[in-house]
Amino acid sequence: MSYAMPRVRPSSNGTMVDGFGRRIEYLRISVTDKCNLRCVYCMPEDGLPWLRRSEILTYEEIAEIVRVMADMGLRRLRLTGGEPLARKDLPRLVDLLAAVPGIEDIALSTNAVLLAPVAKRLRDAGVSRVNISLDSLCADRADAIARRPGTLARVMEGLDAAHAVGFDPIKINVVLMRGHNDDEVPDFAELSRDRPLHVRFIEVMPTESNLELSATNFLSCDEALSRVAVVDALEPVPGPAGNGPATYFSFPGAQGTIGVITPMSHNFCSRCNRMRLTADGQLRPCLFGTIQTPLRDALRHGEALEPLINETLRIKPEKHLLVQGSAEGSGGLIALSQTGG
Ligand code: 5AD
Ligand code: SF4
Repeated sequence: MSYAMPRVRPSSNGTMVDGFGRRIEYLRISVTDKCNLRCVYCMPEDGLPWLRRSEILTYEEIAEIVRVMADMGLRRLRLTGGEPLARKDLPRLVDLLAAVPGIEDIALSTNAVLLAPVAKRLRDAGVSRVNISLDSLCADRADAIARRPGTLARVMEGLDAAHAVGFDPIKINVVLMRGHNDDEVPDFAELSRDRPLHVRFIEVMPTESNLELSATNFLSCDEALSRVAVVDALEPVPGPAGNGPATYFSFPGAQGTIGVITPMSHNFCSRCNRMRLTADGQLRPCLFGTIQTPLRDALRHGEALEPLINETLRIKPEKHLLVQGSAEGSGGLIALSQTGG
């Protein structure tokens, strides 16, 4: 890649379109690779070799990248990790991002363990909605899946705080695992009936650290939904704001919805609208695979970012190549926490 390329200066209402005609207006920003939990499908029990502080983008650097991309057509952001609330003073980043012209929406993906004390501050700073990871409604199971005691109780406090400060919508992400939480699918679905909660079932994706689990304990969303359908008839619905990869259903008259995210059984890459920024400043056009463009050093050397971003758009792959039981399609990714899910 050449830094001597002519500086492309898109108009302030520019659009980012990739080589397959997909419009990209959504960026997922991983603010840290660290996490306070060790979910069995996500991270090895002993953690990972963490990035050094100097390798991680500062909040000002993240905001500068967002400013450049907003000028090119970026409209919506999601903060992820690791666990984004494990990074100090996340609301300060939200302040910076909310001030970027063109950014219309800021969302947060969190395990909610650390959410309650900062929920109000985050809401005031400009986070409009949250996705909360929760894989079991039984305390002993939730704690075992997260490999941390006390997890469920704290997640529930975080969920209550999310309601209290008015995040809307609130989505619950449930990673399906046969033998761990498959019998709880109807209970999770029930949460959407009397509360404005959007429960999303996610098929587990293989990474190097979960190859056995993601193959042996795989449960498709089709199978999960067929169990809920026994409870009541589900209707297809448009679903809450967010334009993600989920397909939504609801119980008749329910306040919330039930969504399915099917990376393995039904590939949704043709609708992909996003790129990812890792904590160390790699712009990744796809969650999986090895393609990434380092933005951090260019930024630190005062080089123009637009050509690098345009090049990343150009090489965005058509789809991921995930295969059960194989780490190859994940591009050697050890854990999803490295790219922010
Ligand atoms: N497969 C599917 N979902 C995963 N997540 C983390 N690792 C995996 C995986 N291997 C989910 C978390 C969270 C989101 C950010 O990514 O549950 O909801
Ligand atoms: Fe942490 Fe989320 Fe990974 Fe669980 S899934 S270990 S909460 S980053």
